[in-house]
Amino acid sequence: MTVPLAVTVTAKQPGRYNSTAKAKAEEWGVPFFPRPEKGPLSDFIGVVAEAFLVLGGERWTLHDAKGELYFSPGSAALRVRRLFDDVLVRLCELKAGDSVFDGTLGLGADALICARQVGPAGKVVAVESSLPLYALVSEGLRRAPPFPDSAIIDVRHGHSLAVLKTLESRSVDCVVFDPMFDLPKSSSPSFDLLRTYASHEPLDEATLAEARRVAKRWVVVKGGRYGREFERLGLTALKLTRFKPLVWARVGPS
Ligand SMILES: C[S@@+](CC[C@H](N)C(=O)[O-])C[C@H]1O[C@@H](n2cnc3c(N)ncnc32)[C@H](O)[C@@H]1O
Repeated sequence: MTVPLAVTVTAKQPGRYNSTAKAKAEEWGVPFFPRPEKGPLSDFIGVVAEAFLVLGGERWTLHDAKGELYFSPGSAALRVRRLFDDVLVRLCELKAGDSVFDGTLGLGADALICARQVGPAGKVVAVESSLPLYALVSEGLRRAPPFPDSAIIDVRHGHSLAVLKTLESRSVDCVVFDPMFDLPKSSSPSFDLLRTYASHEPLDEATLAEARRVAKRWVVVKGGRYGREFERLGLTALKLTRFKPLVWARVGPS
């Protein structure tokens, strides 16, 4: 029977990676597939599993019939160089020592930016509900912590509302959300793969209300310019970015 997701290793020197990959498969609660030394992974996609998390070289990759996705600090690296001008940093008014709750980790770029801005004395908790994305990004961050002088990112697998409910009122400076847009723009193949594995659940009123309880300063939400997310949540778009498809909203604590 084909399973939705399995863990395996690269075909090149699979023995080097087997024990680490097996331990991770157990931690994530998905089957481990011992990779034969011969044969491309595509032979097993759709037969053994619909998708594989593959350990090889120094990183994990998520493969399915459409392509592959891996964690890279690349897009955050560009933003770190222009940190003083980063919209998220500006809207959150982030400074050294602050704490941030990122309710939609995705590929971790926003969490990385926040971690760099709040520095080692600060704190970032980031939540991802999709197991493959959580696995990819938490391992990516653990294996290659990307920027010096950053806060450690505490990555949690779960639903942001459930994690927010465990936090005390006024216990973090800012909460940020970047949910999947209800009207997606056209994008790159790797973003299409992210879209396949991401949770498309819209941000709901209950989660926004919990975020406002937990935040001391701001709750910042990113949205699609042509979507209906903000209207539904009673948020007003600030329209301050030059990157046109994006809009932002910011609300204070409740
Ligand atoms: C647009 S992506 C976020 C991108 C991210 N800000 C970045 O910089 O890479 C949205 C992510 O949030 C996740 N997500 C959506 N709803 C969630 C929820 N309620 N709890 C946790 N994660 C959620 C999705 O699975 C997806 O990976």
